[in-house]
Amino acid sequence: MPFSVQIRSYAKINWTLDVLFKRDDGYHELRTIYQTVSLHDQLLITETSGAIEVVCDDPRVPTDETNLAFKATQSLREAKGTSKGARIEIQKHLPVAAGLGGGSSNAAATLLALVKLWKLQLDERELFRIAASLGSDVPFFLIGGTAIGVGRGEEVYPIEQMQCENLLLVNPGFAVSTRDAYEKLPRLTRRESASIIPLSLLAAKGISELPLAARNDLEAPVLAAYPEIAEVKRRLLSQGARHALMSGSGATVFGVFDNLHAAERCETELREAGYWAERVRAVDRHEYHATLFQ
Ligand code: C5P
Repeated sequence: MPFSVQIRSYAKINWTLDVLFKRDDGYHELRTIYQTVSLHDQLLITETSGAIEVVCDDPRVPTDETNLAFKATQSLREAKGTSKGARIEIQKHLPVAAGLGGGSSNAAATLLALVKLWKLQLDERELFRIAASLGSDVPFFLIGGTAIGVGRGEEVYPIEQMQCENLLLVNPGFAVSTRDAYEKLPRLTRRESASIIPLSLLAAKGISELPLAARNDLEAPVLAAYPEIAEVKRRLLSQGARHALMSGSGATVFGVFDNLHAAERCETELREAGYWAERVRAVDRHEYHATLFQ
C-alpha cells in the first residue's frame, strides 16, 4: 500500500502591492501584504518508486514538467539527492492564472507534503531557498496568514494577523499573465523611494484599516488593458462592496463587505451575470497551519 499525504493549497490575495522599480535582474522590486483566504485546492500526494506524475481535474492546468508542483518535486529531489518520486493529484477549486497564487500555492503545498511523505530532514532555510527558486509567491505559502513580502515578493515576514470575514472574489473568466501585467507598468522612476517606508508598511501599522488603505500598482495598467476587469470592480462597488481591489496581477478582484448578507447578495447577482464568484474569509497563520494537512 503506497503512502499518501493530503494537503490543502490555499488561495491568497494581496491587500497592497507597491511596485518600486525594475531591477537589474528583470524582476520588479516590490512591497506587498499577502493574505491567505479560505478557498483552497486539495492535493493528494502519493509516493512512487521514482516517477513524477501530476494529474488535475481542470484541463486548463498543465500536467507536464512546466507545472509548478512538478517542478517543486524535481527541485526537492535534486536538493536531497533522493530517487523517490510522487504522484500529485490536484483537485482545482481556484481559477487559473487569476492573481490568487494557485500555481505557487500548489508548489508550496507539494514541498510541505513531500517533506512529510519522504521523511526528509530539511533546514527551514533550504526549504525557503527552493520555494523562492520556483516563483516569487511560493515562499509566502510556506508561512501563510498575513505577511509582508519584499524583494521580488519572495522575502516574507509574518505581521499582525488581519481578520476579515466577508470577502468576495470575482473573476471575469480569462487569465492574465503575470509577466504581461508587469510589462504593462509605465517606466518606473521610484528607485530612490526604496529607502522610504512605502505605503504598504505604513498600512501594516494600522492593520484594521488595511482593506481601506489597500492599493495595487498593477491595477491601473491591467484595468486599462482589460476593461472587463474594470467592469468587475465597478459592479462590486455598485453592489455593496465597501472596497474593491484587483489581487496580484489579476484578473480576480476582491470586494470587502460590511456583513454576510451584503456579500451573499452580491455573490448571487454576479453569478447570475455569468461571473465566477466565491465568498471567502481571511485565514490567519494559526488556522493555516492547523488546517493544512486535512
Ligand atoms: O516569480 P514568478 O515566476 O512568479 O514571476 C513571473 C513573472 O512576473 C516574472 O518572469 C516577471 O516577468 C514578473 N515579475 C516581476 N517582478 C516580480 C515578480 C514577478 O517582474 N517581483
